[in-house]
Amino acid sequence: MQQNYKEALLDSIFNTLTETAEELTLDCYVIGGFVRDYLLKRGTPKDIDVVVVGSGIDLAKKVASKLQGNPKVSIFKNFGTAMLKHKDLELEFVGARKESYHHDSRKPVVEDGTLEEDQHRRDFTINALALSLNKKNFGDLLDPFKGVIDLGNKVLRTPLEPGITYSDDPLRMMRAIRFATQLDFTIELKSLQAITENKDRIKIVSNERIVEELHKILASIKPSIGFSLLHRTGLLDYILPELTALEGIEEIEGQRHKDNFWHTLEVVDNIALSSENLWLRWAALLHDIGKAPTKKFHKKIGWTFHAHEFVGSKMVYKLFKRLRMPLNDKMKFVKKMVLMSSRPIVLSEEFVTDSAVRRLIFDAGDFVDDLMTLCEADITTKNPKKQNKYKNNFKIVRQKIIEVEERDHIRNFQPPISGEEIMKTFNLKPSKEIGIIKAAIKEAILDGEIPNEYDAAYGFMLKKGVKMGLFAINKKN
Ligand code: CTP
Repeated sequence: MQQNYKEALLDSIFNTLTETAEELTLDCYVIGGFVRDYLLKRGTPKDIDVVVVGSGIDLAKKVASKLQGNPKVSIFKNFGTAMLKHKDLELEFVGARKESYHHDSRKPVVEDGTLEEDQHRRDFTINALALSLNKKNFGDLLDPFKGVIDLGNKVLRTPLEPGITYSDDPLRMMRAIRFATQLDFTIELKSLQAITENKDRIKIVSNERIVEELHKILASIKPSIGFSLLHRTGLLDYILPELTALEGIEEIEGQRHKDNFWHTLEVVDNIALSSENLWLRWAALLHDIGKAPTKKFHKKIGWTFHAHEFVGSKMVYKLFKRLRMPLNDKMKFVKKMVLMSSRPIVLSEEFVTDSAVRRLIFDAGDFVDDLMTLCEADITTKNPKKQNKYKNNFKIVRQKIIEVEERDHIRNFQPPISGEEIMKTFNLKPSKEIGIIKAAIKEAILDGEIPNEYDAAYGFMLKKGVKMGLFAINKKN
């Protein structure tokens, strides 16, 4: 085993680090994610964290001067860290330190320390593993907290009492849950209890950092692992209360509705199996949030969630704003998916008409495939007969979308007659009549009254104008 570490480290970058540390008479170690992921045989590393007993900045500068192209060193004096890029790798240098924290801030008070003190201040035993880059013990694994055993047992444990580790830096509560999701690890019970006890401290973590972790949870193979842990520890109430509001089943007069929280988590896992698109996964997570505020019980029809898609799409904007997520095209995409999330379902329940499909393609535009993927993921019934039926219905809708699109080209609909041509034909100044005629042409195409073609639209425009009492003075033959 020892031999393997050495082979991995005998890369030129590590040689350069070793030589340079020797020249500066400093000790240095690779620590954190690189070591963890190397031992887990997990992907190609992008970051290498190097801890230096002494000045990390001095080592970084000297290493950069020896590397091909003399990469620029970014120095963060306040933190005593330095960073440089070499090929596809980002190397971060930090002086070994011991830290203590103020209660109301994630910013530590930093003092120089030994390697072991540095390892103590880290979040998890599996992230505190260090590999020596020093000539005297090159390649030795320094594992004071039995992190390798934890890697084997797939357990997340903190080097210190968990209450201290999480209270010091509450972002670690999110990191614990994120690593548990990404690596399919268990969080040690007393750690989980400490997260629950410290959940209130999530308030001092910036929304940006929280969202970064949520993205990583959502991007995992089985995101529900993370969301159920966030729920179990109570963190979800602080971060996404719109989701916890969906939990529970109510029963009135023998009528029950499904638990929309647990249903949502199933939908997110389903979509993770069929799409890598992070924003589609966000849409799956939020597709039912409008159900909590719209829930009603009617004596005759039972439970309803009237207009929950519309209410939910409005909530998406507020939620993105609150979490300081960018209010850009991605947000608009999520909003659109939530707003349209029931459309294909309604379609699949009836006889699928061409005009309904044309309207779906028109409204969803380029995202019609994503919308279908979302709806398929929304099938969580445990009844195999129903499941087959719904899946088949969506297959029919998908097929119909292809046929209708091939024939009518609705996906990026451009009106076949321009407003200018309408003005010229009826000698109109800019006015609301033009909008009325344009809308009528669009409706006629979507209804299948006329094909999506110029000549047919032109004829329709003339008839419509006459009906409106207009006179065509520039009529084509
Ligand atoms: N670390 C910590 N507490 C934090 C963040 C980081 O103790 N809140 C330590 C851990 O030892 C971690 C290392 O700093 O391994 C590097 O952090 P980072 O690059 O953020 O994470 P990685 O562990 O490398 O993993 P990932 O890249 O997946 O985030």
